[in-house]
Amino acid sequence: MPEVTHPPETSEPETLLKMISKRGTMELDQEREGAWIEVIRKMDEVYSDLLRYEVDLEHKNAELEEAQAFVTNVIESVSDILIVCDAKGLVQQVNSAFQHTLGSSVTDIVGTNIADVIDAKDTAKLVPLLKPRSASDVVDGELRFSREGGSSDLFAINASPRHDHRGRFIGVVLTGRPIGELRRAYEELHKAHHELQRAQRQLVEQEKMASLGRLVAGVAHELNNPISFVYGNVHTLMRYRTAIVAYLDAVHGEKDSDLTAERRSLRIDEILEDFGPLIEGTLEGAVRISEIVKNLRRLSFSKLGEVERVDIERLINTAVLWAVRTKQVRLDLQLEIEPDLWISGNEGQLHQVIVNLVENAIDAMRGTEAPRLVVSAARKGNDILFRISDNGPGIDKDHISHIFEPFFTTKRVGEGTGLGLWISYGIVREHGGELVAGYGPEGGATFSFALPAA
Ligand SMILES: Nc1ncnc2c1ncn2[C@@H]1O[C@H](COP(=O)(O)OP(=O)(O)OP(=O)(O)O)[C@@H](O)[C@H]1O
Ligand SMILES: [Mg+2]
Repeated sequence: MPEVTHPPETSEPETLLKMISKRGTMELDQEREGAWIEVIRKMDEVYSDLLRYEVDLEHKNAELEEAQAFVTNVIESVSDILIVCDAKGLVQQVNSAFQHTLGSSVTDIVGTNIADVIDAKDTAKLVPLLKPRSASDVVDGELRFSREGGSSDLFAINASPRHDHRGRFIGVVLTGRPIGELRRAYEELHKAHHELQRAQRQLVEQEKMASLGRLVAGVAHELNNPISFVYGNVHTLMRYRTAIVAYLDAVHGEKDSDLTAERRSLRIDEILEDFGPLIEGTLEGAVRISEIVKNLRRLSFSKLGEVERVDIERLINTAVLWAVRTKQVRLDLQLEIEPDLWISGNEGQLHQVIVNLVENAIDAMRGTEAPRLVVSAARKGNDILFRISDNGPGIDKDHISHIFEPFFTTKRVGEGTGLGLWISYGIVREHGGELVAGYGPEGGATFSFALPAA
């Protein structure tokens, strides 16, 4: 509030005039002073505002620097690789995980095209990762980077688009993590799974064969008794027949009697003549049955028997020659046997396996124009691999899962019992191997098994 000055109480006009003019000058001075004070006050105010702003700004700047340091720290600490590209694919920023992936030879990657650091084989995979798209559209891919001394591990990449405040596409952020290790682990797992499935199938197959073996063993055991007394009785019958014929001849003599007429009408002589072949036939049947039963029993209660060192070259030579000779065929025979191969096992049983397999091959090639049989034995690691291949029609696809079962045969009655492969399978298993059937490269069948070398 401006101060009010009152005029002094006087009546002289000159003095009064002087007084008035002095008062005017004073008022003017006072007004000027007031204005200056006002200006200084305003300046003071502006200055303190400025100071405050500066403090604020410094404060904000410090906060901003702190936030930036935090973000940089986070990006650098992320173990995933991070690459920021513009819309043309030029690198704007990367983190140290990516720098580390490229190796020390690539120093200044910012500004180069991302395609220049992608492994040549994977450049085509980069295109979909860089193309413009909506904000929510994240594209996945797999890339290898070229680094010093070759290409990097495989990375799983996610590409997220970047947009400016007006929504225009301005580039992508690629993040990625190495999956080579994971991929390798997965492949190993896959292999182990396959191996497990194979082992399981083999186990089921072995279990099937074992239970079939038990069944056959039971049947063989039950048949053994009756067949032995049929066999014995037929032998006795044969002896009795001779005695009865001699007796009847003596009773009838040469005389013509009623008995002779009766003998003729009942055709006793023809019956007696038939007796021989009938009994012989029965005996032959009994012999065959007891042979089968003997075979079944021997294998069902399979024991290796006598184990000795077996010379493979000699074993194969004798077995193959034996089989070819009994079958009386002409064929192109190729024996590919590495010298000095030995295993420990039962020579007689192994001989039977080779004979069975060769006989089967010869039987299968009956209608083949130029039959060829290849028998080979070779060392493979600690094993000896046996292989018998023919160029016959091969095993029917519907039969392949049954051929090792006892009594499975496609041969006519009397030509095969269907026991050959079953017996061979059992023998090979007893020797620590597995007999497997397959198809040859040029058709035909291949049977193979591996046994531990001695
Ligand atoms: N080399 C082969 N080529 C084609 N089929 C084969 C071959 N070997 C075996 N087989 C098939 O497997 C079946 C079973 O063979 P296996 O040796 O067990 O019995 P078999 O030969 O019929 O009779 P057995 O051997 O008892 O006299 C055969 O009937 C045949 O169908
Ligand atoms: Mg056979």
